[in-house]
Amino acid sequence: MIILSIDTSCDETAAAVTSGRKILSNVIYSQVLLHKKWGGVVPSLAKRAHEERIDSVINRALKSANINIKKIDAIAVTQGPGLAIALGVGINKAMELALQYKKPLLGINHLEGHLYSAFAQNKKGNPKKNIAFPYLGMIISGGHTEFVLWKNHLEYELLGMTLDDAAGEALDKAGKLLGLGYPAGSVVERLAEQVGNVDEYKFPRPMIRSGDLNFSFAGLKTSFYYFLKTISEEEKNKRISYLASAFQEAVFDTILIKTEKAMKQTGISNLVVGGGVTANKYLRKKMRALTRKYKGAVHFPSMKVLTGDNAAMIGVAAWKKAERGLFSGTVDRQPRMQISSLAIEEKML
Ligand code: KG4
Ligand code: ZN
Repeated sequence: MIILSIDTSCDETAAAVTSGRKILSNVIYSQVLLHKKWGGVVPSLAKRAHEERIDSVINRALKSANINIKKIDAIAVTQGPGLAIALGVGINKAMELALQYKKPLLGINHLEGHLYSAFAQNKKGNPKKNIAFPYLGMIISGGHTEFVLWKNHLEYELLGMTLDDAAGEALDKAGKLLGLGYPAGSVVERLAEQVGNVDEYKFPRPMIRSGDLNFSFAGLKTSFYYFLKTISEEEKNKRISYLASAFQEAVFDTILIKTEKAMKQTGISNLVVGGGVTANKYLRKKMRALTRKYKGAVHFPSMKVLTGDNAAMIGVAAWKKAERGLFSGTVDRQPRMQISSLAIEEKML
């Protein structure tokens, strides 16, 4: 089954062509430069930019996969979570194409996409990685920080999530306070690396004794903000790498402590982790060490382009739904969509 997939959930206009787990093309138009000067994503600007780019991004995805839209078997689109007006652009386009070319439609959860991206393969079917459920799934991105018990294809149970800011959002906000621009995750990584990822300023590890698997990063950002007020601008600038490193350490250490708890609670030591923050090499190293300690393994997206938002992951997440014929007549946008097992699905065919 060949699937054309679309994601416009945030600030990337993305389309891809996939066949099962294989990515035949993956086109991403990033709006990051558009939002940079505002220090975050502006929904109305995102919507307009999606509208301007969506046709060309889809056409490029089809062209680079060398396939005519008439030969596509189904169209998959991100239904949520995400920015409502941004999601709407991709959904309207997917419904329009489905009607015009008489193709079945699939509404996909963006978070499922982030999980499936660890199993996405290139055209040749590499990496081979077998899928062996169950997994402890994790999404660590700019919008989400969640634990999911991934029992099987299409079977998920949400175990915990952030109650306020996501991990990537916390890194972005701390980066902003340090004047590092937006988004700041990769800049923080680089600065921390320069000083050997040391933890010379101790910031809190929020919720590590909460007894559940939830996160909360808003307070950490606040304590960083107040700490910066106690030092001079000169010290801040001189010690910027150390400050970035300590903040990153607080975020990652919290994630690692909670992950170990989740592993003990579920008895699962095999992890699947996706989302923009998993581009971070230091985080990957820490997670590998943790799973090794429990004789498990951790699976990350194999290509950097699959860590952040993209449409190939939506196509791969649509794979099993399409195989089972779980199509929808229409797709409603669901900005606050949670990850959950298949509810009652409408069968179109
Ligand atoms: O998955 P993503 O592209 O968008 C969402 O769905 O949220 O994630 C974006 C987030 C941003 O917060 C960005 O700062 C963070 O991922 N990020 C990183 C790195 N690259 C991107 N965080 C830490 N280290 C990185 N190398
Ligand atoms: Zn995302």
